[in-house]
Amino acid sequence: MPVMSAVEATFCRSALWRSFAGRRVLPWVLADHLLTGEVLEIGGGVGAMAAETARRFPITRLTVIDVDPVMVEVARSRLARFGNVTVARADVTNLPFEPASFDAVTSYLMLHHVIDWTEALTQIAQVLRPGGALIGYDLTDTRLARVVHRADGSPHRILTPAELADGLALAGFAQITIGLSWHGHLMRFHALRRSGTPETLAQAPAGHFRPE
Ligand SMILES: C[S@@+](CC[C@H](N)C(=O)[O-])C[C@H]1O[C@@H](n2cnc3c(N)ncnc32)[C@H](O)[C@@H]1O
Repeated sequence: MPVMSAVEATFCRSALWRSFAGRRVLPWVLADHLLTGEVLEIGGGVGAMAAETARRFPITRLTVIDVDPVMVEVARSRLARFGNVTVARADVTNLPFEPASFDAVTSYLMLHHVIDWTEALTQIAQVLRPGGALIGYDLTDTRLARVVHRADGSPHRILTPAELADGLALAGFAQITIGLSWHGHLMRFHALRRSGTPETLAQAPAGHFRPE
């Protein structure tokens, strides 16, 4: 069940992207955040970011999921050399994990492919332990991003920083930081899973975002 256009899927599988993603994008997204314990990467594609994550954080146990079985197969064989990585096929809107199973969830350039992104955020919050972090980056809703995605025909739902901040707060996150980069085309985000009941989580304060 591929959700990306052939053009985007080919780009994501290219050696150029794999090298750039691991060497440049991952350090930029993580900044000074360390990944420890059980980490879930959603929409991991062919494992470009996961390979560098496993190399940098060898004591982390990394689970990588993707909805596209072709991506999963490629990632599984690329990441087989790492003893600390598991790859599985799963949809972020229906995660097959116990509540509070992960210390961190990472999301790199994938959320804009998820039409039901509010359910995705709810599921991510559920599998994170209280205090666990969601860290990632994505496109922002710019004219350029809309034109490119309409042209390549892939299903998409590109968020504004404010929509993401509100969605995170409603899903049960606090200390939400969203930084705009690359002339506003990309947003980096970081948020912590609040503790509490679904009722108190629904009253979470709105998040905020800032230009970088
Ligand atoms: C643009 S690629 C990014 C891949 C990888 N994160 C990277 O940075 O190289 C987006 C990925 O998200 C996956 N994806 C899209 N919707 C998904 C969903 N609902 N659940 C899990 N993965 C999904 C796609 O199959 C694709 O592999």
